Amino acid sequence: MSDLFKNYIDGKWLAGASAKTFENRNPANRDDLIGLFPASAAADVNAAVAAAKRAFPNWRLVPAPKRGELIYRVGELLRKHKEDIARSMTREMGKILKETRGDVQEGIDTAFYVAGEGRRLFGETTPAELPNKFAMSVRTPIGVCALITPWNFPMAIPTWKMFPALLCGNTVVLKPAEDTPHTAVRLVEILQEAGVPPGVVNLVHGRGEEVGATLVRHCDVQLVSFTGSAAVGREIASACGQHLKRVSLELGGKNGQIVMEDADLELAVEGALWGAFGTTGQRCTATSRLIVHHEVTKQVTDMLVERAEKIKIGDGLDENVEMGPLINQAAREKVLKYIDIGSREGARLLMGGSVYAAGSCANGYFFQPTIFDQVTPSMRIAQEEIFGPVLSVIKIKNFEEAIEVLNGTAYGLSSSIYTRDVGRAFRAMRDIEAGITYVNGPTIGAEVHLPFGGVKDTGNGHREAGTTVYDIFTEWKSIYVDYSGKLQKAQIDNAE
Ligand code: UN1
Repeated sequence: MSDLFKNYIDGKWLAGASAKTFENRNPANRDDLIGLFPASAAADVNAAVAAAKRAFPNWRLVPAPKRGELIYRVGELLRKHKEDIARSMTREMGKILKETRGDVQEGIDTAFYVAGEGRRLFGETTPAELPNKFAMSVRTPIGVCALITPWNFPMAIPTWKMFPALLCGNTVVLKPAEDTPHTAVRLVEILQEAGVPPGVVNLVHGRGEEVGATLVRHCDVQLVSFTGSAAVGREIASACGQHLKRVSLELGGKNGQIVMEDADLELAVEGALWGAFGTTGQRCTATSRLIVHHEVTKQVTDMLVERAEKIKIGDGLDENVEMGPLINQAAREKVLKYIDIGSREGARLLMGGSVYAAGSCANGYFFQPTIFDQVTPSMRIAQEEIFGPVLSVIKIKNFEEAIEVLNGTAYGLSSSIYTRDVGRAFRAMRDIEAGITYVNGPTIGAEVHLPFGGVKDTGNGHREAGTTVYDIFTEWKSIYVDYSGKLQKAQIDNAE
């Protein structure tokens, strides 16, 4: 018998309304079944939203510092269980242990950072224009928030959304990706252990088309926060538009790293390898384009290939492994499709390009690190998000062209430039169209206390993390207190 996992609704672990389940298997070894999870239906979503709605009136009145203390306890428990959560996350989604530890650490960092916000969550006080009148603005919670999260950061991303949402006094329904329901269970168990009241956090497993679609359209869900593909993001945004719900979207990327001729090339190559092949290229911030000055292109690609060939592929639970599998069969097919597209468009395949099935890897979704050069900016492999270990090298003649190429995609999440020229670095910081720019660092590695998100098709203008996340999860209320004892008319009584 395999483990049968449950939804968490109103403080109870419950089977789905129907008996339908889905399997969760280890992408490094398809024979390894982690467990069965409820393929929930609309009835489960309705129960979760109703529980969240019932819990809201009390939760919103818990003082924010108290809500912060609870999140602090969650952070301590995450720290206590960091290693075993990292191990089960690697088993569930494949990235190497070093990275799953980092993923849990991102949740811990978020917990401690958000917990302190319970004693800030500042509004403003400001003079009123009329005598004996007081004016201020405060943040207020919104209500029931639906959090729809991806599989590539199964702890970091749910916590980025959930902890600020809770701190602000909202209640939540989490719908984790079908590829990583187990990490979501681990997180909710910890919330339960920390003492989160029933209904404040609810977890519903299942398919996006069923659970996600019902959540997004539910009239008692006031806000949807989604991280995933641009295609799904568009659908969610239009459904939310119909219902005038607040929606925050973190979508795709086609992140570029510029390498100028004056760069420290060793450093630039090391950064490109980490950015392109870390998490098997499955980060929205992954480096998928390397935009290199023509004088150093040959040298850079030679160094890249020499090193990428040495990357040890395998089960991420092995501490010596440097790159795990792709998440599932569909992901592998998508990557293969783009290898074909790139070759047909005339790019040159420098290395990789195939499934990796040596030895024990035959049973997983492994793929070789892949590098194309002679890529031109308009090729599909230079424009579309592949979400796999595929790096496209684009040669440019000067700094201006580098910026133009970097900016020349529909997305604008992360970006990077390697140069020793301070002037160029500052021009890049100013002119790159992206939510995140690194100077002499790879496109991955965002820290939790700075805004995270992107411009153009990467999102709809919101920023998670940092202090900006509170603009997603609160409404502003302006309050005027008139203690003059008479009717005072703004714009009229004080006019000359
Ligand atoms: C993602 O790319 O999906 O900046 C999230 C990073 C991580 C978060 C990435 N801290 O790479």
